[in-house]
Amino acid sequence: MDNEELADREWWETTLIYQIWPRGFQDSDGDGEGDLKGIINRLDYITNLGIETICLNPIYVSPLFDSGYDVSNYTDIDPLFGNLSDFDNLMQEVHNRGLKVILDVIPNHSSDQHEWFQLSARNVQPYIDYYIWTNGSIDKNGKNIPPNNWISTYNDENGSAWSWHDKRQQWYYHKFHSSQPDLNLRNEKVIKELMGIFDFWLKRNVDGFRINAVPYFFEDEALRNESFVKKDIYTFGLPESTALLYIFREYIDNWVSRNNATSKLLIAESYDISDDNLLAYYGNNTHKGIAPLNFKFITHIHNNSNATYIKHILEKWLKLLPKNIMTNWVLSNHDNSRAASRIGFNRIDGLHMLSLLLPGQAYTYYGEEIAMLDTKIFWNSTIDPMGCARGINEYKYFSRDPARTPMQWSSKSSAGFSINETTYLPIHLNYINRNVEIQRNRIRSNLKTYKQLVILRKQPVFTDGDYEFVSLNNDRVLVLKRSLKNYPLYFIVINLGLRQEKVNLTSIHANLKNTLNMVVASSNAIRVTGTVPRDNFILTANAAVVLKSNEKQEQTTTESIITTSICF
Ligand code: BGC
Repeated sequence: MDNEELADREWWETTLIYQIWPRGFQDSDGDGEGDLKGIINRLDYITNLGIETICLNPIYVSPLFDSGYDVSNYTDIDPLFGNLSDFDNLMQEVHNRGLKVILDVIPNHSSDQHEWFQLSARNVQPYIDYYIWTNGSIDKNGKNIPPNNWISTYNDENGSAWSWHDKRQQWYYHKFHSSQPDLNLRNEKVIKELMGIFDFWLKRNVDGFRINAVPYFFEDEALRNESFVKKDIYTFGLPESTALLYIFREYIDNWVSRNNATSKLLIAESYDISDDNLLAYYGNNTHKGIAPLNFKFITHIHNNSNATYIKHILEKWLKLLPKNIMTNWVLSNHDNSRAASRIGFNRIDGLHMLSLLLPGQAYTYYGEEIAMLDTKIFWNSTIDPMGCARGINEYKYFSRDPARTPMQWSSKSSAGFSINETTYLPIHLNYINRNVEIQRNRIRSNLKTYKQLVILRKQPVFTDGDYEFVSLNNDRVLVLKRSLKNYPLYFIVINLGLRQEKVNLTSIHANLKNTLNMVVASSNAIRVTGTVPRDNFILTANAAVVLKSNEKQEQTTTESIITTSICF
């Protein structure tokens, strides 16, 4: 693509998003739990990092059984985090700094402590059909049994996704924990309630929403048993889920035009679903859609993935994208092991080179910028219901607590996260040497590399340029080339191997100048500045660099990410 033709993009298409797990980011009142005032106190850090948008995991009123994904009031703030006036202050402070905020919305289920569920359980109108209730069946011993074999993710209630409610004398469905009943999204009144929730937060100036657990929105109305051969066809990924995303998009777009507001970032959470299904989220010729979070790094890339495999995974997804559509890159989040633990502590800078320099939005999960690692959590400190439901012997394979521990700000007690020595989850013992303050003061650190990449990613060659992946040195070296007419060429070169590699880039680009400039280097690279020969430079184990070749690209030679347009 020519730079004269650079696409006129919405702000959210290339924004850099920082995901904050509110319980773990910063405590302001000494209760050992993060809160909104704490986030306000750290906004300068976030701005200085070059972040453009903050994504807040749930802050609504909740028994916090599932850390806030069990909402008992969608239009107020849980006292643990503050109140609505703290929220308004946060919005004000955020917007004053030119940042944006998106909230996590959970349409699939509420808490069983939500008034809607309480009233529904008592058969009070109009709430009777707000949830998925059924009579179930009677077995040969006359015992009441669930209507089918649907299973819950949390494995409580012996794994069944149905719980018996004594008051209503019926079963209710919950894909997640029994305290998280699924809302009946086929009920128009429930959809209206959801729109009311969007309205409430839009009026409070939020800049968008993350839509939680999309593939679970609908289940088979006939309640047919899942078969063991074809898994989860009646409870997962029904086409109605995609259609509901289109409705959300249309509703929010209409709100924006009615209120003359800036367009909103909408993003949909969806794991384990087919690429075709994910692509449908983007919309079609008649409906605008909502981009899915791109979890390829989380679900497909591991610490032993080689260059050809990574190239295949990332390229395949990019090539599938509808024309003129941007994707997003997520290295880690609150539901998975941290990227530095999962893919390699020494590889985090190289991973950031990919996630920040590939086209589209980039997500950074708090602490990822300093390569925070998963924290070992003992059984008696475990709070995640996913871990608790599995018991003492297995909890560690399921609990998400290790990736949710307090942010490591400094070497002070409680890592500068709280003045309380007891924190909501234990702090990683490495906080003494792995924290923001130390990394800020070092000449080279993950944080320093991250900040350099954030500055670089704003160049049009990274937002709008072409891309090409190449595997070198028997799959041990991955190269990503970014090019745009009239801009210098960039090469991101990552040594995935455990030993030093000699790299020769001449096979990748004809007529490359003899030397290339080193623009960014991983904190573990030997050299960080100067020039390197195009055909023979050394990268130590797990090191990564961004190189710039000063000749301007005359014409694009590689696959273009942008062609024509689709509704979005
Ligand atoms: C959220 C999880 C949560 C689950 C159930 C997910 O998609 O990301 O953290 O536990 O929904 O609410």
